[in-house]
Amino acid sequence: MSSVLGTYARKNISFSKGKGCYLYDLNGEKYLDFVSGIAVNSLGHCHEHLVKIIQEQSQKLWHVSNAFIIPEQEKLAKRLTDYTFADFVCFQNSGTEATEVSIKIARKYFYAIGQPNKKRIITFKGAFHGRTIATLFAANNPKHIEGFDPKVDGFDQVPFADHKSLKEAVTDETAGIMVETIQGEGGIKEVPDYCLKGLRELCDEKNLLLILDEVQCGIGRTGDFFAFEKSGIIPDIVPIAKGIGGGFPLGACLLTKKVSIGMTPGTHGSTFGGNPLAMAVGNGVLDIILQDGFLDNVKKISEYFDQKLISLKKKYSKIILEVRGRGLLKGLKLAVDNTKFIETLMKYKMLVVKAEEQVIRLFPALIVSKKEIDEAISKIDKTCKEMS
Ligand SMILES: Cc1ncc(COP(=O)(O)O)c(C=O)c1O
Repeated sequence: MSSVLGTYARKNISFSKGKGCYLYDLNGEKYLDFVSGIAVNSLGHCHEHLVKIIQEQSQKLWHVSNAFIIPEQEKLAKRLTDYTFADFVCFQNSGTEATEVSIKIARKYFYAIGQPNKKRIITFKGAFHGRTIATLFAANNPKHIEGFDPKVDGFDQVPFADHKSLKEAVTDETAGIMVETIQGEGGIKEVPDYCLKGLRELCDEKNLLLILDEVQCGIGRTGDFFAFEKSGIIPDIVPIAKGIGGGFPLGACLLTKKVSIGMTPGTHGSTFGGNPLAMAVGNGVLDIILQDGFLDNVKKISEYFDQKLISLKKKYSKIILEVRGRGLLKGLKLAVDNTKFIETLMKYKMLVVKAEEQVIRLFPALIVSKKEIDEAISKIDKTCKEMS
């Protein structure tokens, strides 16, 4: 019996090494990995640049307290703020901490400007914002909150992308709206651009803050650094994690100067958040992702992937109902049981992960090649054939 607490229904397989888009199990069997640690291994497994960086940094300094200035942290924050809408970055270790601090920042902002009654956050049904008690009740997924009462108050929920309900849900106590630009766990559901624009307008009109959770869909996954960029809007607060660490635990919250005013010394903290080792890796990830042409290439390869997936959908219209998502954040909504599909795909040595609504998520590393996409398509084809 495992001594690990059974909070996951783990598959009976373990891996001993990884390289690029491949994982190798304990028997040396090679698997095409389109899970990427659920959109974490943005540069694939053991990317040379990250290996070098972690080796170098591990010989210099791993951890110092946030009581001191950490140059690697200053560097990563400067790069993130130079490149994005944000003026400040608050470093954490995970996505859930990044969304949790986003909620704190929104509430503290209104407190600091003398409107402490504005403290409630509106979210979308189907959301996932993490596993702390607050973020669980923010997302309000019945499966996740069961047994964790008392309910954390302060969140109101409306149906996905439903503006009428959204407008009606806004009260004098509303501080902000927090949504994933593309819902991940919820089934790769994209908030359309017109809706994102509508959210921004509503926030401006009603004096609310817009929090876009890009933990899963950000950091180049869609071919843009942030998934919201295409819509042209600018959010107030953006939690990130996953891809920015490339496999090293790293989360962060990006925010504007305006909303930062309440966050004075002592209002938030993290022992590990932003330590030199994590920051070195984060900087290493940006070295690659921000290289000229890197994101263009993600877009190009994802167009190829799209075409191939759409062809498969045509070929197996009774199995694949929809191709969802953008860039290399792809979902297939299936007419068959997604767990069964994933098991069958594993026989063909390919790994994917499921989501709500009978969706399977396809998250290749951002460095995936055409050849690897072709291999994936061939394995999905065989799986569809077998399940037809
Ligand atoms: C959109 C979103 N927000 C937050 C989280 C929580 O991140 P973590 O598991 O790193 O705490 C996730 C994780 O899947 C996520 O997809």
